[in-house]
Amino acid sequence: MKKRFVLCALIGFCAFNLSKAQTYPQILVNNQKFSDWNRDGKLQPYEDTRLSDYERIDDLISRLSVEDKIHLLLGTGMVGFEMLKGFEAIDPKGVTIPSYLIPGSAGSTTPIDKLGIPAVIFTDGPAGVRISATRKGESNTYYATGFPVGALISTTWDVELAEEIGKAIGDEALKYGSDIQLAPALNIMRNPLCGRNYEYFSEDPLIAGKFASAITQGIQKNGVGVSLKHFAANNSENNRMDLNVHLSQRALREIYLRGFEIAVKESNPATIMSSYNKINGTYTSASYDLLTTILRHEWGFKGTVITDWFGGYADVSAISDTSHDGISKDSYEEKIFAQQIHSGNNLLMPGTQIQFETLKKYIDSKRLSIEDVNNSVRKVLEIIFKSPRVAGYVPYNNPDLKSHGLLSRKAASEGMILLKNDNGALPLNKGSKIALFGSGSYNIIAGGTGSGNVNKAYVISLPKGLEENGFQIDKNLDKTYTSFVKEELRKTEELRKKLLAILPILTQPTIKERVIENSAKENDIAVITIGREAGESGDRKIKDDFDLSEKEQNLISEVSNAFHKLNKKVVVIVNSGSAIETSSWKGKVDAILWASLPGQEGGYAITDVLSGTVNPSGKLTQTLPVKYSDVSSSSNFDGVPAEKPTDVSYREGIYVGYRYFNTFNVTPSYEFGYGLSYTKFDYSEPVLSSSQFNQKLVISLKVKNTGSVAGKEVVQLYLSAPRGGVDKPAKELKGFVKTKLLNPGETQVVFFELQPKDLASFNPLASAWIADAGVYKIEFSSSVLNSKQTSSFTLPNKLIVEKVNNVLNNDLNFQDLKSNR
Ligand code: BGC
Repeated sequence: MKKRFVLCALIGFCAFNLSKAQTYPQILVNNQKFSDWNRDGKLQPYEDTRLSDYERIDDLISRLSVEDKIHLLLGTGMVGFEMLKGFEAIDPKGVTIPSYLIPGSAGSTTPIDKLGIPAVIFTDGPAGVRISATRKGESNTYYATGFPVGALISTTWDVELAEEIGKAIGDEALKYGSDIQLAPALNIMRNPLCGRNYEYFSEDPLIAGKFASAITQGIQKNGVGVSLKHFAANNSENNRMDLNVHLSQRALREIYLRGFEIAVKESNPATIMSSYNKINGTYTSASYDLLTTILRHEWGFKGTVITDWFGGYADVSAISDTSHDGISKDSYEEKIFAQQIHSGNNLLMPGTQIQFETLKKYIDSKRLSIEDVNNSVRKVLEIIFKSPRVAGYVPYNNPDLKSHGLLSRKAASEGMILLKNDNGALPLNKGSKIALFGSGSYNIIAGGTGSGNVNKAYVISLPKGLEENGFQIDKNLDKTYTSFVKEELRKTEELRKKLLAILPILTQPTIKERVIENSAKENDIAVITIGREAGESGDRKIKDDFDLSEKEQNLISEVSNAFHKLNKKVVVIVNSGSAIETSSWKGKVDAILWASLPGQEGGYAITDVLSGTVNPSGKLTQTLPVKYSDVSSSSNFDGVPAEKPTDVSYREGIYVGYRYFNTFNVTPSYEFGYGLSYTKFDYSEPVLSSSQFNQKLVISLKVKNTGSVAGKEVVQLYLSAPRGGVDKPAKELKGFVKTKLLNPGETQVVFFELQPKDLASFNPLASAWIADAGVYKIEFSSSVLNSKQTSSFTLPNKLIVEKVNNVLNNDLNFQDLKSNR
């Protein structure tokens, strides 16, 4: 009786919630419509007064036992980890591990059967829905679309397109029965060696925030929730679960939190995932200052905070699907779990028996208050009640993979960046004969490894892309490389099985000089692909990874010599999500296309740009340095001790990426915002709504395609603030617009709006965002170093834009890098 009673409560709640979006089930009794349940336990006629959402959850909370509540605060555990001490899944007594848990999903909340509370399911990740493609005893397949990675989505500079991708990912999540998609990932690319840069958007927080917001809106339009991750300052992978990140309040506020702040305020994400690391001595997942004071009180976050998988367990050097070794006996400190709940981390994933016992002990001894527990239970119930599952959605496992494949291809070609194109080397002449060099040309890398990988049905190879579009490829080279790459991949697969987290970069076969010379005679042009795979649980290396290997360098030199001798051109494709060294070899070749990690349609998308079917319009969202040591965090990225770092200091402060290169006059190989087109654009003089800033400023300017083919331009607005209370970077990105496809001669007016916070810097002494009085210079640019129009306005009086809490102080007290600007 009681069970039915609460089930009705739950259904009633959902009816209420969803009736806003659609007419959702009314309960039919004797052909009369009921939709509600009231405290007296009677069904109420459909139109009657209802309880508020809050009251319904309140009522349910009053019926849950302490054990039920603890179950709700924990996931059900993770297959593959239960044998490890401290990682055992929850004792399933009284709990049905959901039979509908999707194979290959990341986990679920714990269902409370007796009260009719179902579980919600979580799936990774940022490039598409990560589930197993096959299921035991079934012939059906469950492939998902492999979209381009975050690092490529941002280089489109097209937030509408990003929202479209979000919509498609959300649609697949919904159709495959997921309730929460563990995406987008928006950590700052602090350093090119971070293994997960490919999942992230940029070194710039405005880009990170805007793209995360667009993708969130797209996914959530399906009723599926997101999880913005990893909150915050998770900018490296080595020993990521036990890494203490030391940084200043200013670097935190302006660089590492800002993207999350933008996305939280603009897109109302259902959940946020706290990160593995500590910030200034406290695990982010157990930081009240971060999760409650800043996230909820300052930013108004209304959703649910979940831990990253096993977040708060220390000394676990690698946990991912490829590796889970290195777990020591004392890999957790039990009080952390109670602290996490107290701090506002509402759900601990994937859930372990130790966590269950600890929370019980802490609640019983009143070291964890029942109010804290109830607050988190409420937050977990909210995501359950809002889930498609509770809305009665039936997953038919039938996403439209075909149309999503087309979207993936379109997005991939939109984000590719033409770095160099001397003497019109590209686009390729129709039907050209192409000599494809480099192992990478025969193994296009669609995405990265770890939870960001998607089980996609196929990856379009480059030879296939080229041949299907009328190009011919050198069959001799094809044969040599194909068998070499096949064998190398087989060896890599062996290593993968041995659970090695960091896989070697694909090596190059030796191609004899005579073969290269012959191919130069027989083909019209050479294309060399340099590929890099990276991923979760480990960072990249400088040697043979950021830097090209000797064999790769030699290949570029030898191919260029042979082809140039015959007046033929050489194109290099870079197939990497994160920066590599380009400056030592870029002078040797005629064209370079940064193809990033383009997703399952890679070979087609690259061909679209090479052939000119798509005019490239992507621009860099990370700086490509001349050499690794030019990166501001190069000397303090690894952390200490080197062997297994437990501490890393962000001594460069706010000077990350272009903020550093520009302000300290370090010349990059290719700068932030850079990218060429097959056409040219002119910018008109900008028109400002006022020459004085008052509340906001609106600016417009005209962009004209002055070349001979249709194309799109990305106009970037950089602001230089006057000197004031704090050190200021030379300029910062404060707005960007991508035009529509402009035909030759066509013009488009683009608009920008500046808000007070865009003018402000964070002043730690005042715990406030302050805009200093004076002249603000604006540049309208096609890259951070290529300003095409300038203007300025004044702010007559200093503006205290926002006062915030004095929290998360640097515990090491070092001075951030200063420019004295
Ligand atoms: C990753 C998360 C991911 C989670 C679930 C963790 O190892 O850091 O990004 O969502 O696993 O698979």
